[in-house]
Parts: sequence; structure tokens; C-alpha cells
Amino acid sequence: MVNILFVCLGNICRSTMAEAVMRHKVEAAGLSDRIRVDSAGTSRYHIGEPPHPGTCRKLAEYGISHTGIFGRQITHRDMEEFSYIIAMDKENYRDCQALATPLNRAKIHFLSDFVERGTFHCGKDVPDPWYTGDFQLTYDLVDLGCQGLLEHVVQTQQSPANH
Ligand code: 4NP
Repeated sequence: MVNILFVCLGNICRSTMAEAVMRHKVEAAGLSDRIRVDSAGTSRYHIGEPPHPGTCRKLAEYGISHTGIFGRQITHRDMEEFSYIIAMDKENYRDCQALATPLNRAKIHFLSDFVERGTFHCGKDVPDPWYTGDFQLTYDLVDLGCQGLLEHVVQTQQSPANH
């Protein structure tokens, strides 16, 4: 089983969107029994809350469910349990690094690491729609990043080194 955790600040805009989009892709690929997807925030701001209305609207537009997704805060245990910890921006990346043991730090990546260089026009970060209001840009970047991450995971799982 591969476990993927998406991380942002509030866990109501970007990482929740990524969790829903990735779950949708994993289900479409028939891989739900092999890949588990979750999300968390580095802050305590929105614990227990459903995704932001802008995230819900954008997901609905693309026919993607967010059932069962509620805000929670990342824990030390997450750093142990998950195989991939995917930060949305540099601040999330730094906060995850600070929570992880030196060994677990290698599991932390940017979502943009899984997109072909030059495609992600905003540098390493997924801009935060909490501040920008641009949920479409966030969706487009999340969709590209999740597609690249899924392809990476499938390829890595199939490589002889993992058998
Ligand atoms: P997110 O966006 O990290 O993508 O979920 C934010 C949500 C809430 C806040 C900041 C960013 N906030 O300050 O409450």
C-alpha cells in the first residue's frame, strides 16, 4: 500500500482539493486498494471544517466528490505513516521538514516536483486561493501535479527494485 498525504496551511483549500482530485484519479485507475490518499494542514485554523466553498464549487464543476474530507492538523505520526508527503508551498515544506525525523525528511516533496519543468508557471508553489481567490489556477496546477504524482507512483511500484 502506498500512502500519500497532501499538506497545506489550512487544509481547506489546496490540500483538500488535491486529496479529492487524487482520490478521483486513483479510483478511475482502479488503484484504490493500492493507493491511500489523505490531507492535513500545518495550522489548527480549520480543524473539523469542510473544504472551502470555492474548493467545493471547483470540484463540483469537474464532477469530483469531496465526501468525508474535513480539516485536520498534521501530526508527527503522519510523518512516520505516509510514504509521500506532498507540500503545496515552501512554507508547508519547511513546516513538514521541522516535524519529521532526518530519515523521514526524504518523503517530503513539492507537488510541483511531479510536473514537467516549465509547465508549472508559478515556480515551486501552488498559489493559495484563500488569498488569490483564483480556484481555477489552483485546480489546474493540482490536476497536473496529481497526474504526474500518480504516474510516478505507478512507475515506482512497477520497477523491479520494489519486488
Ligand atoms: P489552504 O488555504 O492552506 O490552501 O487551506 C488557507 C486557508 C485558510 C487560511 C490560510 C490559508 N487561514 O489563514 O485561515
